[in-house]
This record gives sequence, C-alpha cells and structure tokens, in this order.
Amino acid sequence: MNYENIIVEINGPVQKIIINRPKQLNALNKATFVELEDAINLAYNNFDVKGVLITGSGDKSFVAGADIKEFADFTPEQGEELSLNGQRIFKLIENCPKPVIAAVNGFALGGGLELAMSCHIRVASDNARFGQPEVSLGVTPGYAGTQRLTQLIGKAKSLELLMTGEMIKADKALDLGLVNYVVSQDELENKVNDIFNKLFKQSPVAIAGVIACVNAFYDYDKDGFATEAKEFGKCFATEDFKEGTTAFMEKRKANFPGK
Ligand code: CAA
Repeated sequence: MNYENIIVEINGPVQKIIINRPKQLNALNKATFVELEDAINLAYNNFDVKGVLITGSGDKSFVAGADIKEFADFTPEQGEELSLNGQRIFKLIENCPKPVIAAVNGFALGGGLELAMSCHIRVASDNARFGQPEVSLGVTPGYAGTQRLTQLIGKAKSLELLMTGEMIKADKALDLGLVNYVVSQDELENKVNDIFNKLFKQSPVAIAGVIACVNAFYDYDKDGFATEAKEFGKCFATEDFKEGTTAFMEKRKANFPGK
C-alpha cells in the first residue's frame, strides 16, 4: 500500500510508524486509519520485525484526536460505525504479539491519547499534553478512551479527566501512571530504543505470551488465569524455551530464535 498519511520505516528489528498530518496536528481521519491498520498488519506478519514504535510527525503533536472536521455532520449510525472501526484497529495494536511503544512527542488528545493507550508502553517528551477533551465537543470518547483510561489510572481520576476534558502535562501523566517515562524531546527516541534493546534480549515468544495474558485480565470473555496456563504450556514446545533454559544451565546469555 502507498502511504499518504503515515510514514513507515523499518530500522533493524523496529518498525516505526509516524502519523504524518502535521498541518492537522496529526489528527486521525478515515484514510489514516486505513493506512495504520495496514502498517500494523505488516508488523504482525513480518518475522524480522520485533517491535513497533508509533509517534507523530513534527515536534508539536503526537495525535490531536479524531479528525473533527470529518465527523462534524455524521448521523448517530455513522458515529457508532466510526467508533467501532477505531476500537477495532486500536485493539489490533493492543493485541499485537510484538511490543508496541508510543513515543508521545506532543499533544495526545482524544483519539490521540486513545491511540497511545492502546500501545503497550508510553514514553512522553516533557512538552507532551494529555487529555480527553471530547466533552467540550459535546461527544463522548469513541476509541475506547473511557475503558483504557479507567484501566490505566483508575475510576476516580479517569472520571475526572473524562468529565472535565482537562489537559494535563507530562509530569502529571507520569504521576498518574498514564505514561511509563518522561524525557526531553531530544532524548525521546533514545529512551524508546533503550527499552527496545532490553526487550530484544528476551524471548519474543514469551513476550507475546505476556501480552496475551495481561490483555486477558481486561477481557471479560477470557479467564486470565486459564490464558496464563495455556501460554505457559505453549512455551514448552518452542525453540526459545529450549534455548533459554539451555543457556541458563550453560551459564551463558540466551540467543533467542524467536520461535
Ligand atoms: N481534528 C481536525 N483538525 C484538527 C484537530 C482535530 N482533532 N486538531 C487540530 N486540528 C487542526 C486545526 O483545525 C488547525 O487547522 P487550520 O490551521 O486549518 O485551522 C491545525 O490543526 C492547527 O491547530 P490549532 O490552530 O488549533 O493549534 P493550536 O496550537 O492553537 O491548538 C490544540 C492546539 C489545543 C491541540 C487544538 O488544535 C485542539 O484543541 N484540537 C482539538 C483537540 C480535540 O478536541 N481532540 C479530540 C477530537 S474528538 C475525538 O478524538 C473523538 C474520539 O475519541 C473518537
């Protein structure tokens, strides 16, 4: 697929996805979603990709939300469909078997915060601003912000942020547990790469299992404990497990084949 709204770069084991509509502060329109879904599927299917980095173009905004101009005259049915489609694609990110890190380089508002929250780890630059300002537009969040924000920071703070629509700074987001790290904008990519370097030393098979187990905790259709037992059992048939345990016994570092 030719991308017009995102940039996809593969640097070694990392697939970088840059939302690239800087004039609109990287707001997510329909076309961007189509491309984002395609890029995430690429990451799922490319064995050599071990991790995904999602960020926004420029130094002002990660993503300033869903494209307000695009949905301003929607009917209720079109609104619901927009929401379901966004939820589906963000779930694809959340369920990606490879770690997905959001490098939040500026505004992460509405659908932008919802995108960041669907990633497994969030690293923010100190100029980042977070919020779910949808109530100021007379609408509720639609890309699972009400669900993931509550999962990440708890009901009381989530309700406050969702109902006031207030924007918070990066240090406050760190206090709330909404982001994992805050660094200067210059350091953002280095910090993300440091995290990837730690992750890439571990078994990709086991990391995929951890993601599935933790996601099961929040999935009412799944029993997280049963998922964990199943994922644990699956590891015993993998080359990663053989290598990991052999390396331990041979007192050397494991070199995981990723299968
Ligand atoms: N959709 C469409 N266009 C957007 C946008 C959005 N979410 N956010 C910014 N833009 C556009 C602006 O319209 C403007 O375009 P023009 O130059 O053509 O007028 C351009 O980006 C630059 O924005 P500003 O001039 O407003 O920049 P600023 O620095 O003064 O303000 C801002 C920055 C505070 C982020 C402000 O742009 C803003 O409040 N944006 C909207 C944020 C928002 O409400 N997000 C939630 C969207 S709804 C949603 O996401 C629903 C959902 O859950 C599914």
